[in-house]
Formats: sequence, C-alpha cells, structure tokens
Amino acid sequence: MAETTLDVRALGKREAYAQLETQLDAILDGLDDEIAAMATVSCVLHNGFGHLWTGFYRVVGPLLLRVGPYQGTLGCLEIAFGKGVCGTAAASRRTVIVEDVEKFPGHIACDSRSRSEIVVPVVDRNDRLLAVLDVDSERVGAFDDEDARALERIVGWFARRGVVTQRA
Ligand code: SME
Repeated sequence: MAETTLDVRALGKREAYAQLETQLDAILDGLDDEIAAMATVSCVLHNGFGHLWTGFYRVVGPLLLRVGPYQGTLGCLEIAFGKGVCGTAAASRRTVIVEDVEKFPGHIACDSRSRSEIVVPVVDRNDRLLAVLDVDSERVGAFDDEDARALERIVGWFARRGVVTQRA
C-alpha cells in the first residue's frame, strides 16, 4: 500500500492524532517486527508534528536503556533506569510529561534546543517493558494529557501485536 508522510501541524491535536493513528494502524497491520514498528512510529510522529526529536530507547539489559529507532539529531546512546526523563519513565513505568526541561532535575540534554518532552513506557503483550518512547520539542509546554493518551494508544500496538520471538 502506498502511504505518504502526513503533516498535521495545521490541525488541532485531536484531529492530528486521529489522522496519524489511522495511518499507523494501516501501516502496522500484520507486522510482527518491533524494530520496524518503532522506526515507523518515530517517522510518522516526527514528521507529522515537526518535533525536535522522536524515538525509542529500548531495554537492553537489567535497568539499562539503549537508543533505538529515532528521528532527529544525535541521541545519547545509553541511559540507566532512574536517570533523566527516559530513565524515570522506565523505572516507574509511567508516562512522564516535562513542561520545562530546565525545571526537571537530572534532565539529560542530548540537544540543547530541547525545551519540553514526554516519555511513554512501551510494554509487550506479557506486560514486560520493551522500551520508552521519547518525544522532545523546542517549545516549553508542548505536551499535555492529550499527547499522553494518544501516545499511550499508539504504543499499545506493541502489547496488542508485538511479537517477541527473537529475544533471549
Ligand atoms: N532528554 C532525555 C534524553 C534523551 S534525548 O533527549 C534524545 C532524558 O532526559 O531522558
């Protein structure tokens, strides 16, 4: 199926996410590769909204995240659970919204232009933490509960359909 990259910046969040979720549902339908899905989700969200950085940090060891598929400038390679916004979301398995990164102690600045961010835990069908989805913006206060709900729905794909046959 031919799909084009959508730009939803002119839309309100509700309609913007509705369009992107419809597109993602179509693209990811039947896929059983979590890396391909992470790359696709990163691309669709990043280009849809024009974010600063959009991507995944994968759980690769006990209490360790490593950068996965992403779009944007160079991301730091590894983040320990409990460190930064990503590590906080991973350790608590809860979505973390940071309105102003300068007010979040321990924020890890991979790109100094980052002003706000949201990090959403990603679990598989066995409720095992696979990764976190990190989205960064150049604007303060870019993310709210509407983003949290929509991004949680989007990464719900990994629990609904993610196949984890190649993990040790
Ligand atoms: N800001 C994140 C680190 C990852 S990057 O911004 C791509 C954090 O504090 O966890």
